[in-house]
Amino acid sequence: MKKIGFAMCGSFCTHSIAVDMMKKLSEKYSIVPVMSSMTYTTDTRFGQAKDLIQQVEEISGKEILHTIVDTEPIGPKQMVDLMVVCPCTGNTLSKLANGITDTSVTMAVKSALRGGTPVVLCLATNDALGGSGQNLLRLMNAKNVYFVPLSQDDAQKKPLSLVADFSLLPETIEAAFEHKQLQPILKV
Ligand SMILES: Cc1cc2nc3c(=O)[nH]c(=O)nc-3n(C[C@H](O)[C@H](O)[C@H](O)COP(=O)(O)O)c2cc1C
Repeated sequence: MKKIGFAMCGSFCTHSIAVDMMKKLSEKYSIVPVMSSMTYTTDTRFGQAKDLIQQVEEISGKEILHTIVDTEPIGPKQMVDLMVVCPCTGNTLSKLANGITDTSVTMAVKSALRGGTPVVLCLATNDALGGSGQNLLRLMNAKNVYFVPLSQDDAQKKPLSLVADFSLLPETIEAAFEHKQLQPILKV
């Protein structure tokens, strides 16, 4: 069974769909769960951290890696065959594009990329066409980094927002294992 690192960032409104996708992927892959400290520690109107942690540990059957020390060995110890960030925030996207490694998730990605392990980003951010835009395009041009296809989720009220089609995560992963980007990367 191939091993997928599944890292969750603080896009709290998309956690329930991300958990559904993790469950689906767990039928085919062994899941190595990772959370940013924001995700691991924060209660919001979308749910409590302890409930999310419980769900993810039940699905994966493993303790969640949530510190930089936890995720640093991912590459050197070949803990995953592919690394997913789902959901990926604008914050984590922008750090990755600029070589900043100060969270469990950015460390997990850096550690994976070190040995050429493919990385799949499933983005959900209100500033994808704003402040994060240059970082999105930079990563689209980066080696071994692939995106779950994206579209505007509310062009009138949130004109700078892009959200990935989470249902395409399994297909994007399969393409990424072949070192291909699932197309079209932009959906209308
Ligand atoms: C309720 C709530 C919802 C949020 N939703 C999003 C989101 O959908 N996308 C995003 O990029 N940031 C969102 N944020 C902001 C991130 O949580 C924040 O940038 C945080 O620093 C991300 O940390 P991380 O990338 O390490 O997980 C949200 C914050 C809160 C409190």
